[in-house]
Amino acid sequence: MTSERVDVHLGEVQKTLFLPLWGRAEESRKPNPLLVDKAALRVMTEVAFDFSPLTRDIDTLTKLGWVKRGLLYDRVVKDFLSLYPEGTVVNIGCGLDTTFERTDNGWLRWYDLDLPDVIALRSRFMKESERRKFVAASFLDDDWLDAIDVSSNVLFMAAGVFYYFEEPEIKAFIVRLADRYPGSEIVFDASSPVGVKICNKKVIESAGLGEQSNLIWGLKRTDDVLSWDRRLRIIRTYRYYSTQVRGFRDGLMGILADLLRIQYVVHLRLGATPTTQPDSARQG
Ligand SMILES: C[S@@+](CC[C@H](N)C(=O)[O-])C[C@H]1O[C@@H](n2cnc3c(N)ncnc32)[C@H](O)[C@@H]1O
Repeated sequence: MTSERVDVHLGEVQKTLFLPLWGRAEESRKPNPLLVDKAALRVMTEVAFDFSPLTRDIDTLTKLGWVKRGLLYDRVVKDFLSLYPEGTVVNIGCGLDTTFERTDNGWLRWYDLDLPDVIALRSRFMKESERRKFVAASFLDDDWLDAIDVSSNVLFMAAGVFYYFEEPEIKAFIVRLADRYPGSEIVFDASSPVGVKICNKKVIESAGLGEQSNLIWGLKRTDDVLSWDRRLRIIRTYRYYSTQVRGFRDGLMGILADLLRIQYVVHLRLGATPTTQPDSARQG
């Protein structure tokens, strides 16, 4: 541990990265953790940031949700790499996420993209390498798409990111990816409109974050994205609250949360299905 703490200068939306980070760190401290995130533990001790006002009123199910989300993304990335070991993953709105550390197979290429203040903070804790690059940009800008080298199959992931935008922005972005990378995949989490309201109350407001951090975009069901562009195909939808939940009350709340689609993970194909393996084989 360094004696000097790392200062934090982040915008309001960017500060939301501390919530899933804290969730993963808390899980990592348990005797039989579902997931271990050593970087999250290190950041918690080395960063000059008071986590207590942010995390004081967060309930156990919400905390578990961040862990389950991490596990689901790990699974999607690992499945993708089992098909394309030298594939490229672009982690949009990476925050201080460590999916790369948990899934690197030694061959993949990886891009971690976030706004410049986040990438500056990230660089204090994680390092670039020949196969892993950091990109300081807004995902809504066009320039970074030209800067990345995508010569192989590509999976875009956006964990906890799209909520903060209006639907036309997300739609235009996904259509742009389908234009640029036909046959690529994207995995992101979404929340029903009811879920957006509940998350703003139970997470953003409880964490004392300002209105600029409020979730905006709600997606009632995965099928709704199919009307955005005829090239989009659903590979799979994942619900995550109702499994591996400990305790009767949280178990019941988890089932209810999944029924209300408080948060769920959407995995799409952008354009033509490759011949290697049909998407139907990944739907089980
Ligand atoms: C809730 S955090 C999730 C962080 C990380 N994916 C995780 O799960 O730990 C949302 C992230 O989206 C990033 N973000 C917000 N707007 C963005 C934009 N226009 N371009 C890129 N990243 C953005 C924030 O900076 C923040 O790191």
